[in-house]
Amino acid sequence: MPQSKKPGPQAAKAPRESVKILITGGRIQRRIQEIAKQIRKDFPDEPLHLVSVLKGGVFFLTDLARSISGEVSFDFIAVSSYGQNTHSSGQVRLTRDLDSSVEGKTVIVVEDILDTGMTLQYLLRLFEQRKPKHLRVAVLLDKPERRIADVRADYVGFSIPNEFVVGYGLDYAERYRNLRYVGILTLGSDTKKGASEK
Ligand code: PRP
Repeated sequence: MPQSKKPGPQAAKAPRESVKILITGGRIQRRIQEIAKQIRKDFPDEPLHLVSVLKGGVFFLTDLARSISGEVSFDFIAVSSYGQNTHSSGQVRLTRDLDSSVEGKTVIVVEDILDTGMTLQYLLRLFEQRKPKHLRVAVLLDKPERRIADVRADYVGFSIPNEFVVGYGLDYAERYRNLRYVGILTLGSDTKKGASEK
């Protein structure tokens, strides 16, 4: 998947990591309110079924779900890639399926970040086969520069530059997910290049 999560040996010994705020928690929450209103405006009368991709999408899903008026349900799915090199060739696999069928439902796929687009491409193909009534995509962050697959989101929180970002669900080696904001992670000089390349 997107960002390279494995800290190199230098990072493990002397992390010297710092996080510079890119998007404050307040801006994230305000934008989520706007997206929630837009989604409800687009589907005024229907129950909405939000599907989030573990783990990064959980905070966006929970905040979005609580901001959309009317009937909302949600579910989770998990996918994995076969590694950085094979990821760009589309080797995404399902590791946890949904609990309930999406057939006939208005489904919103909720993702923290749209990066190469390989994950989303896989998910959209999977869900389309399952015959939802409508299928839409909401992403908090979009990195258009990184796109490989020809996919797009219907609702985008913020379009961001190609930097290694953490927070609000996004991790580096499983850390930083719990930050309320999104920040740019800087590692020590020896490891910075590898991280920003993702
Ligand atoms: C991230 C993110 C998306 C995917 C996007 O997940 O949550 O699912 O990568 O990347 P792509 O557009 O390049 O496919 P990740 O694999 O990092 O797992 P995580 O959510 O558990 O951190």
